[in-house]
Amino acid sequence: MTLPDDHAKDYIEKYMTQDAIIKVQGKYPLQGSVRIQGSKNATLPVLAACLLIPGKCVIHNCPIITDVMYMLRLLEYAGCIVTWKGNQVTVDACNVKEFRLPGEYVKKMRSSVILMGALLGRLHEVGIDYPGGCVIGERPIDQHLRGLEALGAKISMEGNYIHASSGKLQGAKIAFPSSSVGATQNVLLASVMARGETRIQNAAKEPEIAALCSFLRLAGADIVGEETGQITIHGVEELHPVEFDMMPDRIVAGTYLFAAMAAGGEICIKEAPIMHLTQVLHVLENMGGELKLRQESQEIELRVKERTKNLSYIETNVYPGFPTDLQSPLLSVAVVSEGKLLLKERIFSGRFKIVEELRRMGADITEYSNSVLIRGSSCLEGRNVIARELRGGAALVIAGLAASGITMVTDTRYISRGYEDIVRDLRTLGAHISINKI
Ligand code: EPU
Repeated sequence: MTLPDDHAKDYIEKYMTQDAIIKVQGKYPLQGSVRIQGSKNATLPVLAACLLIPGKCVIHNCPIITDVMYMLRLLEYAGCIVTWKGNQVTVDACNVKEFRLPGEYVKKMRSSVILMGALLGRLHEVGIDYPGGCVIGERPIDQHLRGLEALGAKISMEGNYIHASSGKLQGAKIAFPSSSVGATQNVLLASVMARGETRIQNAAKEPEIAALCSFLRLAGADIVGEETGQITIHGVEELHPVEFDMMPDRIVAGTYLFAAMAAGGEICIKEAPIMHLTQVLHVLENMGGELKLRQESQEIELRVKERTKNLSYIETNVYPGFPTDLQSPLLSVAVVSEGKLLLKERIFSGRFKIVEELRRMGADITEYSNSVLIRGSSCLEGRNVIARELRGGAALVIAGLAASGITMVTDTRYISRGYEDIVRDLRTLGAHISINKI
């Protein structure tokens, strides 16, 4: 497995072994400051885009997380030479030859599907298993496939195996019926070197799309309109190697802010993507958090002096709405806040996996098909709980900070898919937390 040498042993032993367990002693307010890691959901498509560039790209501030490792492993299979020094990754894609990707890694994460667009762009052929990822509800890829077909790919499926091939791809007009981050990324990757013009209507507007467009533009692509949801791409003959700084992770920043809401105290988030957190900051403030934003130094200070209060209704939505990836961290705070909250999940159907675990800790939650009603109570009790997916796992750690006694979170390998080191970061903020073997 590709890993920065000095981190490899420590990381695998800490988070990825079956018997790792996070132990949280609750009821200690947080205090201090923490720097936010590079964005997972921006890094993955940028790494896929490296496949399009016959040269060495350098990515700075790359997060050391398992999804990035799997993506790099897949790039190596395709023929790239990958080197990783601390948070700097170099991808040399001079000799990309292999269009078939191994199911073992493809099935581990959802974003492997965007390698379809990248490999079609580079080799005009790709063979890939149906992608995996966190189990958070139905995750079809119909829009990805339709977008690639519109650009000229011939796609066939046998069981779980997808094969796509094309001649030189041809620009097209693609109108997505609903916004999809991954499908937008796939079409972007396939169309940057297609012949002529591609127009994407109803493209996703998430900041991670803008990051991919910035990377591709720096490499020579002609793309406009990503902030508006109507993206126009004029295909170019080739792209050239670049160095790129990865933006901070808005979901990790939000997770630590919700951790402080649950535990109380006063924290400072450094290198925070303030402009990408508008809706989240609005919710935190209305729940009783006191915020100070420093745009110049990119810092968010959050002070939580009193018990937090629930808003009556919050729904997740596409950007700039409240992000689905912070729905579980919010839920963990809502269960100990004053009053009732009706929380509706509008993006993924099965994203309430932590409800059962929170109930075992004493939370009062009624679940409906795509929403939950939370009656806030002042006490949660520490229990042994299971992380069943990435954000839900982080949210259980947050619940542990608010609970009396000790909470043990098992299946930490889900958390390591997106958080470089949640235990390190929360300890830096004064949490009484450790990771041990069972
Ligand atoms: N959808 C379809 N058909 C498609 C594609 C999507 O029906 O072909 C549906 C999905 O089932 C879902 C909705 O459209 O109901 C939105 O899905 P989208 O394609 O936008 O999500 P994604 O690309 O699979 C990315 C992030 C997720 C994040 C969502 C929404 C990555 C690697 N993943 O997923 O991140 O929740 O966008 O913002 O970028 C996470 O980090 O924990 C995570 C799950």
